[in-house]
Amino acid sequence: MEKIVSLCKRRGFIFPGSEIYGGLAGTYDYGPLGVELRHNIKQHFWNEFIAKRDDVHGMSAAILMPARVWEASGHFESFTDPMVECEVCHERVRADQSESIADHEAIHKGKKVIWSTPMPFNLLVETKLGASEKTATTAYLRGEITQGVHVNFKNILDSMHPKLPFGIGQIGKAFRNEIAPRDFIFRLREFEQMELQYYIQPNETEGNTQFEYWKQFAFEWYQSLGFKKENLRLRQHADDERAHYAKDAWDIEYNTPFGGWKEAWGIHHRGDWDLRRHQEYSGVSMEYADPETGQKVLPWDIECSGGVDRAILFVLLEAYREDEMGGEARAYLALAPRIAPIKAAIFPLLKNKPELVAKAREIYTELKKTIPQIAWDDNGNIGKRYRRQDEIGTPFCITIDFDTLGENPDLAGTVTLRHRDNGEQERLTVEEVKNHLISTIK
Ligand code: GAP
Repeated sequence: MEKIVSLCKRRGFIFPGSEIYGGLAGTYDYGPLGVELRHNIKQHFWNEFIAKRDDVHGMSAAILMPARVWEASGHFESFTDPMVECEVCHERVRADQSESIADHEAIHKGKKVIWSTPMPFNLLVETKLGASEKTATTAYLRGEITQGVHVNFKNILDSMHPKLPFGIGQIGKAFRNEIAPRDFIFRLREFEQMELQYYIQPNETEGNTQFEYWKQFAFEWYQSLGFKKENLRLRQHADDERAHYAKDAWDIEYNTPFGGWKEAWGIHHRGDWDLRRHQEYSGVSMEYADPETGQKVLPWDIECSGGVDRAILFVLLEAYREDEMGGEARAYLALAPRIAPIKAAIFPLLKNKPELVAKAREIYTELKKTIPQIAWDDNGNIGKRYRRQDEIGTPFCITIDFDTLGENPDLAGTVTLRHRDNGEQERLTVEEVKNHLISTIK
């Protein structure tokens, strides 16, 4: 983990939030490479869960929502973690995390720590809206992006006229006042979620079929981020673990080096919990009328909910490798090409040969038209450039040399394409390179 945290900072992936002011616990900022990785993961989610499907629409709801939403959704009552207070220094920690308790007790160096009885602590982040203290209203930064979809259920019905079963997908920030943000970007106070709410006919057979379908769909999608099968698993929640809205819940978990199996993604059978509660609290009907029979039902919801930041962390942990190449130690990220921040780096063999630089620039400009995430690098020798690109997970390096210019007429117009993971090189035309890149980053 320390190696990933350090690589992320050094190479412009992820920085501690507001670092020059001492940081803000539970927040991180994404740098130039991190934001590309993040964008690629979200785009992959959007393509597979939303854009490629005829039965799913996308949307983007506001982050700020009034108190009534959270009363209706049950988050005021049940969106809590158990908390205990140290009676020596009054610091509060999660009561259900033995690690947090042990870490805290270690601070007091053998002194007996007395803990308060556990009390529930609500995770919703509150804010005030309005110009004066008197008229200001309390609003909440959403604790899950889900409610933005449910409160728009009727708007989607009335504008898009979808037929059951259908889904609404969304990506966006969520906020939780986590008692103990920890483990880099694993547990944050500000994080991003990618979710699908899939509305179905309200009956057990349909519920079981759809739940099973989306469980497998989400699991396969997660694997496609580049995970080894044995490092991911599906685990069903025990009765006392399920969120207040869930009839059944499974997690996709990743086998982390910092604490074993940890939650990456949740698949929840929410039944009609959300629509029923919003119907009751808003007074607006959430019923769906069958277009043929006119029969009205309150649909059930199967939810797929994943953390973007957790996906980034797990992808980086999975991809980090150390080996030896050409007699030298190297560290590299074996990122799947479709999510790598930079798809290929272009090098002129020598920086001080204008004819090589001009040709390399021409190829760079040409390739960048089709694949924007292409980088230019002419710093240091070729070996150093390879190492730099390997460390940030660039799957391909393209070198323009004197043969490209026609020194060996048989090779005129060709370049070397070097593969990150095994260092193998092949000689290809620019067109062949372009086609290869397009097919591998899809
Ligand atoms: N709408 C359902 C929901 O929010 P959840 O299991 O509380 O369910 C879904 O959250 C996902 O959001 C988790 O699987 C995790 O990937 C991510 N997540 C939750 N809390 C997080 C936190 N404090 N920091 C980073 N990611 C978090």
